[in-house]
Amino acid sequence: MNYKQWLAEQLAGQLEGVTLETIEELIEYPPNPQMGDLSLPCFKLSKQLRKAPQAIAEELKAKWVAGDSVQRVDAVSGYFNVFLNPAQFASEVITEVLKKGERYGSQELGKGKNIVIDFSSPNIAKTFHIGHLRSTVIGKALYNIFEFMGYNSVGVNHLGDWGTQFGKLIVAYKLWGEQSKVEAEGIDELQRLYVKFHDEADTKPELEDEARAWFVKLEQGDAEAEKLWRWFVEISLKEFHKMYDLLGVTFDSYAGESFYNDKMAAILDELKAKKLLEEDEGALLVRLDDYNMPPALMVKKDGGTLYHTRDVTAAIYRKNTYDFEKAIYVTDAGQSLHFQQWFKVIELMGHDWAKQLQHVPFGKVSLEGAKLSTRKGNVIHLEELLAKAIEKTREIIEEKNPNMENKDEVARKVGVGAIIFNDLSNNRIKDIVFSWDEALNFEGETGPYVQYTHARACSVLRKAGVEGDKPEAAAIDAELLTNAEAQGVVRELYLFKERVEQAMHKLEPSIVSRYLVDLAQSFNRFYHECPILVDDQAVRAARLALVQSVRITLKNGLRLIGLEAPEKI
Ligand code: ARG
Repeated sequence: MNYKQWLAEQLAGQLEGVTLETIEELIEYPPNPQMGDLSLPCFKLSKQLRKAPQAIAEELKAKWVAGDSVQRVDAVSGYFNVFLNPAQFASEVITEVLKKGERYGSQELGKGKNIVIDFSSPNIAKTFHIGHLRSTVIGKALYNIFEFMGYNSVGVNHLGDWGTQFGKLIVAYKLWGEQSKVEAEGIDELQRLYVKFHDEADTKPELEDEARAWFVKLEQGDAEAEKLWRWFVEISLKEFHKMYDLLGVTFDSYAGESFYNDKMAAILDELKAKKLLEEDEGALLVRLDDYNMPPALMVKKDGGTLYHTRDVTAAIYRKNTYDFEKAIYVTDAGQSLHFQQWFKVIELMGHDWAKQLQHVPFGKVSLEGAKLSTRKGNVIHLEELLAKAIEKTREIIEEKNPNMENKDEVARKVGVGAIIFNDLSNNRIKDIVFSWDEALNFEGETGPYVQYTHARACSVLRKAGVEGDKPEAAAIDAELLTNAEAQGVVRELYLFKERVEQAMHKLEPSIVSRYLVDLAQSFNRFYHECPILVDDQAVRAARLALVQSVRITLKNGLRLIGLEAPEKI
């Protein structure tokens, strides 16, 4: 049952000229349950209705037709407040959660529609850093959320596997590299070679010319250049896959930048034919002065293509391949201009689907004042971060629960969960100053707290002998769930569906993570106030049904944002 919609339908006839949608949009959930379960702020209608807010509220109250769903209504300070019948509310919500199980909260909004999500997209031979972690975690959560809302998500890893840096890397490897060392140390060694190239090139500019020449060879399909490039890609992917396996992330496509090598010429021709390309000192660009943006550079003086060229080509390829409803790009906010520029290029080419392209920026991560720069190699290694989180979880388990089975597995699920959740606990656009203490803090509003609450619910159900997903829901006496703590939980359970939908519309997974903390907190209040495994069988059954509903909803929510939900911690 959608209560906002239902209430809007009840009120629509009484508010002349106000549409159902407007009413539904205005209805709020009062933060304080003493103000009711639902509330219409009438001051937002007083201009249109030319009436004082309190008068509108009073009128709604006077005309209200009593029914089973509502206990009472009230008009207070310009608000029309509705108090639901608590037993019916509890019964309805619990029945729905238990009936839908792992589908509870899901919808069919996007049936038959594709959403392409470009996320993670690290660069070959460069460290997978915390910015890529953010993109991976946010992108994956959005992927799951869209799927849960009925869309078909297509996850694309637009690997940075092409560009002049490969010329530099080849030169550096040939001059200073050793095969065995690269094999043993992987990206770290490649990165060192790359940094060394830049250090040396400061005094020996001819190195830059050599690098350019090697990149041209690579572009022309020279066997040696291509063999080295493939090897760099392979070594890097092996490491990225270690991260992805730990994080539980998969992609539907790994078409990286190089995938578009043979597809750009046609796009450049099209740009030319549409008179969008302008020559400027030997380079080709699309002028965007009219839109207050610097030009989008498409071909360099030396004939090389650019990040822009590849993104324009990739978008057209994706539209043709997936006929997407929306294509989203999850990167740090520093790339906003880049996306605005090439989205405009697509629009100027006459593609009306340009408006289906959306950049989903997130805030930068800084490390206590230091700048995260790949060139200097001054980065937080994600591998190290995850390893530390797992190790710390392992220590806590060893201390608190030394006899636990599958310690390693649980440590991995909780440690990795802590890192993912930490990343998703603020609005994505907020800049983050990375702190080890915070990332490894498991107290308070964290992933481990939510996971622990889930495990606590599992433990109660285990002790009660409740097996599988469904206790007998139908038989519960919901009158036994009308106390404040139980109602607090019911209210949170009810909100899940709406929160997930909001998270989708705003492309903001933190709405789900914050919701999970609220649900966990309300459950823990209930758990402390209301003993569950009591002798009174009716009370026990009702409370167990609520616990089961919480377990299901926490698990669904955790899964959406990419966390596992171990049953024992
Ligand atoms: N490889 C880029 C980086 O590491 C991100 C690519 C994002 N996707 C895209 N289609 N531009 O910053």
